Amino acid sequence: MRAVSAILLLAAIIKVATAAPTPLFGIDFGDININTDGETSDADATALSQEDITNTLVRPALFARVAYCSSPAVLNMTCGEQCDALPNVKILVAGGDDGLVPNFFVAHDVDTDTIVVVHQGTEPANLLSDLNDLNFFQVDANTTILPKANEDVKMHDGFAYTQERTADVVLSTVQSALESTGAKKVLVTGHSLGAAIASIDGMMLRMKLDPSIAVTTTVFGLPRVGNKAWADLVDSTLGTSFTHVTNQHDPVPQVPPQFVDFQHPSNEIHITGVDSSGNTATAQRCPGQENQNCSPGNSLLDLSIDNHRGPYFQNISMGNKFCPV
Ligand SMILES: *[C@@H]1O[C@H](CO)[C@@H](O)[C@H](O)[C@H]1NC(C)=O
Ligand SMILES: *[C@@H]1O[C@H](CO)[C@@H](O)[C@H](O)[C@H]1NC(C)=O
Ligand SMILES: *[C@@H]1O[C@H](CO)[C@@H](O)[C@H](O)[C@H]1NC(C)=O
Repeated sequence: MRAVSAILLLAAIIKVATAAPTPLFGIDFGDININTDGETSDADATALSQEDITNTLVRPALFARVAYCSSPAVLNMTCGEQCDALPNVKILVAGGDDGLVPNFFVAHDVDTDTIVVVHQGTEPANLLSDLNDLNFFQVDANTTILPKANEDVKMHDGFAYTQERTADVVLSTVQSALESTGAKKVLVTGHSLGAAIASIDGMMLRMKLDPSIAVTTTVFGLPRVGNKAWADLVDSTLGTSFTHVTNQHDPVPQVPPQFVDFQHPSNEIHITGVDSSGNTATAQRCPGQENQNCSPGNSLLDLSIDNHRGPYFQNISMGNKFCPV
């Protein structure tokens, strides 16, 4: 276990960076990259086509946005345009308490015959301040939930415990839904804190469900969830069925930093720009873990909390204010 004070440094840097994007005190911090204290990749990133974005990322993003709507509205799918963008979705479970259990739901997406698991995130300012909390520890993976995790795998305690609170209901709902619908596919998604929980859910479901069931995990604005052994386990368990999408200069994927022993898994997709309508994004695939041509290479002097909210593509933004119902 390791309490993390160094993160306060990151908070301080982000604060300064937000206030003064130009060189500070005559020192150019523009090249500082405190994420390089860990294994990184500098493999070339390759462009993603609009077709790939439409076919693989848009539907998960539409679901992740709905997780910010209230549970009663989600249960009926009467949350306004956010729900209307997903017709033909049958909600199986929706819950959460706006506290220890962030909102979540499990649904049958009839059009794609997929069981979908979705977790709500939190406001980025709250998440950054939680991740700056001196009182967090790295804890062992819960092997009831992740039977293939060995003792080298360490996870952020807040993310691990938050996932634990809904693990049983998510697993049992998905299992019975697969049986009752005959669906053979599961999609797990979420944004921000919800991305962290969804990553762990994706691992749990891959380890627990029959191998004939396809499990896809596609998350947005993911903070680092665990150490290098965690990142390696995600790579070996999920491979390319895992994707984490980062938007431009979002600070959240930078925390907790690598120098306190956190590491992202592979398969980042990095959005490098979004047009002024919010509809069309240019994005690239980033091979390897912590690819320096993508989000981990961002200068700390050029971070934008707004980028955490989106828009990601097709004008999909995520956060409480993007579903007031
Ligand atoms: C959900 O649907 C029921 C029945 O149609 C309706 O009475 C109720 O008001 C709806 N709830 C919300 C939050 O829209
Ligand atoms: C592991 O998670 C389960 C929920 O699935 C919980 O009941 C159990 O107490 C957890 N075990 C440990 C050691 O924290
Ligand atoms: C994009 O979404 C935002 C927030 O949901 C909305 O206010 C804006 O009108 C949308 N823009 C376009 C071009 O649809």
